[in-house]
Amino acid sequence: MKSMKNIFSSRKRRVDDKKLDMTRLPKHIAIIMDGNGRWAKKRGLPRTAGHKAGVEALRDIIRTCSTLNIKYLTLYAFSTENWKRPKDEVSALMQLLVHYLKKEIIELHKNNVRIRTIGDISGLSQVARKEIDIAIELTKNNDGLGVNIALNYGARAEMIKAVKEMCQKVKNNEIAIENIDENEFEQCLYTKGIPDPDLVIRPSGEFRISNFLLWQIAYSEFWFSNIFWPDFNGECLMEAIIDYQKRDRRFGGIK
Ligand code: FPP
Repeated sequence: MKSMKNIFSSRKRRVDDKKLDMTRLPKHIAIIMDGNGRWAKKRGLPRTAGHKAGVEALRDIIRTCSTLNIKYLTLYAFSTENWKRPKDEVSALMQLLVHYLKKEIIELHKNNVRIRTIGDISGLSQVARKEIDIAIELTKNNDGLGVNIALNYGARAEMIKAVKEMCQKVKNNEIAIENIDENEFEQCLYTKGIPDPDLVIRPSGEFRISNFLLWQIAYSEFWFSNIFWPDFNGECLMEAIIDYQKRDRRFGGIK
């Protein structure tokens, strides 16, 4: 079997080929992994086969981000709205998550990846929570790529949670209303301590945000593509980064 190290070095060659500016890489990339269902339909397969193939794509993207020394990768895996899907699909997605963590966590740990989640994981099954806890605990001291998996995540719910926490702090006299600012608010978000995404990627031809990181993407750069998520690979990611490097980010100021 090809070792992780070898796979990593072959990616490095492709990076050089594409002439990425290694000094101007995004620190944080966020991805809406969309198009699994359509990918499967196109092949006459059940939607769950699309999700399975989506996990393969995920592997390649994590490897590529790790090789490039990207600091954070946030993945939209299951939204607060995804519960509306048929029971079978929800359960297949949860099983995939459990299976993925069980199977990959040692390899991820060896590669210095740190796993975190954003979202209300108390809404997930006990089995899923157990695997998540193991993954978080095992990798908590790693300082390589930080992978944040959004599970039962919705940006509106996240902001309501933050508002409630702020109100509680005011009630407890821990903070005065006039001292509430963006910094204080961010301390109450799931993404506390994680810098805002520089680049948000949505494949599959959709041009919407779907309740993903609404606060954090205020100044993110967006990259869309028609490719369905299962076909998204390291090459696509590099294409996105190369485009990102051509953007002029002014954060509301002027050059
Ligand atoms: C959106 O495609 C995708 C999802 C709702 C699930 C994404 C999950 C994975 C890629 C795998 C599980 C994740 C982990 C972390 C192991 P869609 O089903 O909405 O596609 P469609 O728009 O074509 O129907």
